[in-house]
Amino acid sequence: SRRIRIKEILPSSQPMSALCVCGWVRSVRRGKEVTFIALNDGSCMANLQVVLTPEVDGFATVSRCGTGAAMQVEGELIASPAAGQEWELHARQVKILGDTDSDYPLQKKRHSFEFLRSIAHLRPRANTFGAVFRMRSALSFAIHRFFRERGFLYVHTPIITANDCEGAGEMFRVSTLPADRPPLTEGKIDWRQDFFGEKTGLTVSGQLQGELFATAFSDIYTFGPTFRAENSHTSRHAAEFWMIEPEIAFADLADDCALAEEFLRYLVRFALDECGEDLAFFNQRIEPGLIDKLETLARADFSVMTYSEAIRRLQQAPVDFEYPVAWGADLQSEHERYLTEQVVGGPLFVTDYPADIKAFYMRLNDDGRTVAAMDLLVPRVGEIIGGSQREERLDVLMGKMNSVGIEAQHLDWYLDTRRWGSCPHAGFGLGFERLLMYVTGMENIRDVIPFPRTPGHARF
Ligand code: 4AD
Ligand code: MG
Repeated sequence: SRRIRIKEILPSSQPMSALCVCGWVRSVRRGKEVTFIALNDGSCMANLQVVLTPEVDGFATVSRCGTGAAMQVEGELIASPAAGQEWELHARQVKILGDTDSDYPLQKKRHSFEFLRSIAHLRPRANTFGAVFRMRSALSFAIHRFFRERGFLYVHTPIITANDCEGAGEMFRVSTLPADRPPLTEGKIDWRQDFFGEKTGLTVSGQLQGELFATAFSDIYTFGPTFRAENSHTSRHAAEFWMIEPEIAFADLADDCALAEEFLRYLVRFALDECGEDLAFFNQRIEPGLIDKLETLARADFSVMTYSEAIRRLQQAPVDFEYPVAWGADLQSEHERYLTEQVVGGPLFVTDYPADIKAFYMRLNDDGRTVAAMDLLVPRVGEIIGGSQREERLDVLMGKMNSVGIEAQHLDWYLDTRRWGSCPHAGFGLGFERLLMYVTGMENIRDVIPFPRTPGHARF
């Protein structure tokens, strides 16, 4: 009979005389007369209870199999007489496909996330990570569905590129040089030798290329890996992370914020509607009140505050911050958390940051010292989205590039969009892992990406 996934066995299913299921053993309860095996195939949180009696071939061997063993079970699906599950599978035939032994690291007990990180190759089989990676997959699909429903073009922007979009000097270097070749100039890397003669790195953002496509297709988005060579040990920064970057033409900052809000609400609604079983698990085990938090987000309007107002509120706060609060300084995560958790109690757009602390491409406001930028901050996680209206005026953009030391010749292709058919446009980047942290309640970015690339974690 055809193998079915455990997820397909619903409360409303009918008893079945011949059913085949494959999976990995989560636990075995042996008895003389009957053995119970909890089998999981990753399709859902729930295990299927397999009931094994001595008439089944290999009863003794199967009863002795280890946690983690892979097996195929054929038998009869019947309504379970015991509490705890709707259905159980009475085995007629069991095949152990791969046994394990007592060295198997995922024994039936709770392991710390730190330990599980050290076995990132096996942790997808642990309950929490099953739920996390199902959520990751579901939300990836939801992202594409959101943009497709709205007529956005999906564009693949390059991974290897010469431009450091954010200008923060965090690009990984990509080189075609043999590893053992000494640098040409003593003490200095010869960038000219990098990519067959071009200085290249791994992309920090697909935005600039996204803008090129937005000025042809009006509404576009990217969704791919991005890289930042920051040797950071915080729980919300990774060297390799995934980013969703929509870019919309004929749009200003207000349109940008409206899109971001609609997008986030849509994704949260999707998680609530489609991932209920896993969310219930996170709600119970990871973040109490998670589901209420998500229900509220899906309903209520987000708060908006200018950067200047945020600074005033922080200065009035009855709190000693570690980092100073002054107009012109960037917001630190302690400030972001105070604003979202204490001041507004929910998601908050902070807009109109000082030009000096933001990237060169953001549109200069009429005051001459702030830009049409927005960051979306959420409780616990902090900045989840960063975006802006883009500077579409060629002279203003070139003036800015000149003042921060970006050579016009280096970005001539980007400037061409401002030379010919320039138009107001805006966009943002949503950090996919930050979204997952928010939706699952997981507290460390290393625990929402399959193979985290943080310092010390590159071996898998
Ligand atoms: O604020 P960022 O640096 O903005 C950009 O890259 C723009 N080019 C986006 C755009 O307008 N198209 O990054 C955007 C988001 C952040 O808000 C954060 O959620 C996430 O990307 N992010 C990181 N996530 C994990 N690890 C890191 N090191 C991250 N750096 C940024
Ligand atoms: Mg940012």
